[in-house]
Amino acid sequence: MSRPGGAPRRLADCHNVEDFRQLARRRLPAPVFHYIDGGADDEVTKARNTAAFEACDLVPDVLRGVAEVDLSTRVLGQRIAMPLFLSPTALQRLFHHEGERAVGRAAEAFGTFFGISSLATVSLEEIGRTVSAPKMFQFYVHRDEGLNRSLIERAKAAGFDALTVTVDTQVGGNRERCLKTGFTSPPRITPASFLSYATRPRWVFDFFGRERFRLPNLDTHLAEGSRTAMGIGDYFTKMLDPALDWAKAEAIRRAWGGPFCLKGIMSVADARRAVAIGADAIMVSNHGGRQLDGSRAPFDQLAEIVDAVGDRIEVICDGGIRRGTHVLKALSVGARACSGGRLYLYALAAGGEAGVMRALGLLRAEIERDMKLMGKRRLDELSRDNLRWR
Ligand code: LAC
Repeated sequence: MSRPGGAPRRLADCHNVEDFRQLARRRLPAPVFHYIDGGADDEVTKARNTAAFEACDLVPDVLRGVAEVDLSTRVLGQRIAMPLFLSPTALQRLFHHEGERAVGRAAEAFGTFFGISSLATVSLEEIGRTVSAPKMFQFYVHRDEGLNRSLIERAKAAGFDALTVTVDTQVGGNRERCLKTGFTSPPRITPASFLSYATRPRWVFDFFGRERFRLPNLDTHLAEGSRTAMGIGDYFTKMLDPALDWAKAEAIRRAWGGPFCLKGIMSVADARRAVAIGADAIMVSNHGGRQLDGSRAPFDQLAEIVDAVGDRIEVICDGGIRRGTHVLKALSVGARACSGGRLYLYALAAGGEAGVMRALGLLRAEIERDMKLMGKRRLDELSRDNLRWR
């Protein structure tokens, strides 16, 4: 699609996720941009996550009186004001110095859930104290049991609303862009990457001139990722517990005792097991195509999972969402809500809190406009009747 006006240079030029992506590319050193933007192997799954939404079309109703539209829904025990939320993502202060603080404030302004990663750059305690938006803590189960216990206790004490265990990181995905750029956490400026940093002086100033980069939820127990530079693929492989299984997931749910979600469920059999261990929600997700390339897209896999367990567990469609219509399609199939990472990370990189606010404002406006154009006033009026498969 060719668009008038050329590449965006300011937030005001950004009208969709792709615009924020282009502005993020302009602002970030190449290794950092490609860490966000990249996927595993040939990035087939990453592309398919979005392309999958083109497998069906919306069939609108008209003359339905759509002056008022209610976009609210319930996820993990919380009422949220729109059916799209911000998936937990790591290392946010590398993308903009406002990091998780900006994302939390934007989630609060839009009344939606947001997630803090175990690899967040702001502490659970600070987020708990300062952000009133519904909060999930994304728990990476580590080999270090003391760290695991501490993370669960800290998330509880900080008042997090839900615990989300990511289950698709038994080993690190093969992220070839990161191998080529040498991306690590914390970043290391090497002779090969020097120029890409030198041409982003604002980023360099923010990184070296402000608060020191840390992973404060982990650095009480580990040097890796905070004091010792490591690629994220290696981090998963070396630091996370490869023996994680259903029994352990159930034990974690019990230890947590509150709303519980599994992120990275792709098969019907696993969705049923999630119900059996008492999970409240599953995020149908392939980690943004960053782990198993060739994995099916969440949207392609949604119908069979909803048919099997949709009456017993909340099913979230995570990944590939770039438009309000994508959200409407997923909800029509039967998802409770949608979530995404890159859709707000590009905006964070493009303009901090103002960027995330603008991205969420645009996406919310799209969802509302699309509901009206579909002739729907409430999300539960969306159903498979208003979809046709090509
Ligand atoms: C990633 C992790 C950290 O995909 O979520 O890079």
